[in-house]
Amino acid sequence: GKGGYEHYMLKEIYTQPNALSNTIEGRIQDNEICLEDFPKGTFSGIDDVHFVACGTSYHAALYGQQMLNRAGIRAQAFRASEYVGSNPGPVSDKTLAIAVTQSGETADTLGALRQAKSQGARVVTVTNVVGSTAAREADDSLFIRAGPEIGVAATKTFSSQAVTLSLLALRLAEDIETATPPEDKAELLRSLEVLPENVEKLLTSTEAKRIASRYAGSKSYFFIGRGLNNAVAKEGALKFKEITYEHAEGFASGELKHGPLALVTPDTPIFVLFNGENDTKTLQNAKEAQARGAPVIAVASEKHSSADIADSFLEIPDTHPVWSGLLANVKLQLVSYHAARNLGRPIDKPRNLAKSVTVE
Ligand code: M6R
Repeated sequence: GKGGYEHYMLKEIYTQPNALSNTIEGRIQDNEICLEDFPKGTFSGIDDVHFVACGTSYHAALYGQQMLNRAGIRAQAFRASEYVGSNPGPVSDKTLAIAVTQSGETADTLGALRQAKSQGARVVTVTNVVGSTAAREADDSLFIRAGPEIGVAATKTFSSQAVTLSLLALRLAEDIETATPPEDKAELLRSLEVLPENVEKLLTSTEAKRIASRYAGSKSYFFIGRGLNNAVAKEGALKFKEITYEHAEGFASGELKHGPLALVTPDTPIFVLFNGENDTKTLQNAKEAQARGAPVIAVASEKHSSADIADSFLEIPDTHPVWSGLLANVKLQLVSYHAARNLGRPIDKPRNLAKSVTVE
């Protein structure tokens, strides 16, 4: 049941600390990554990674891709529907295809998985559902262990996917001879272990609700971020449009000035994500929007509050830049939730959408 929450979505947002603890449990030991079916050395010989996924899972795949790229591993995230029937470049037994799918039943993703497999790639499914079609058809599976998700809008499963993919990326960085694992791996893992607590902390504040009311009735909602936060900006916008039915778009911060800026007015609030990496540039992009009258809502820790220019502030706990986006994402989930609730939308079952999309 909803366990006292008004909607499944709200319950799923609030139970993320627990979901994340399950995702991480036993997978970090003495500063090493321990991944069930993927012991050390499993991925030696791999030289290219193709992520295939849709919707929110694609945004998690973008996160995973960047984690790999940071370690110098060739990786691309594809929208599964675009992968199927196209030529994604060379595929061989040195290619690792990673199908990212909460349900394990998404037709587009299954199509991409089958195509990669038939071309000789090694296929791993990252999913929430044990025994799902994608899990059965892949060579191996890695489970995100988020627990059942009922709300059509994916929330806790995004957080658990991003973390699982990051752990997988760290394993790959150890296994692939030419890769360079992060220099600050110990620090990175330590911050991951406290991620559930950090999510818990930010869930107690009511500022997301206030922001949702403050900017209600705007024409469009924009979300910008750079690097890992670009994935989060896109996810923030997808969630917002799914459940509020309002127009929202997520962009790479630096892309704003290459077109979308034409849409920016005092009636288009812009959520700006900071994580301590290239914040100065993102701040510049935020100022460009602000100069056109757009209210800027900074999502950042107190420490990275380049936010003094911001019209509103959504504070997140300070953490390693790699996990910061996941905290920001939870804040944005809450903003979307409250915006949809104010509008009286059927939050758990938005119109025209299904929890798992089994047609291509
Ligand atoms: O089950 P999957 O992760 O394969 O589903 C993929 C998308 O259909 C899904 O993430 C969709 O975008 C959600 N409604 C997002 O909230």
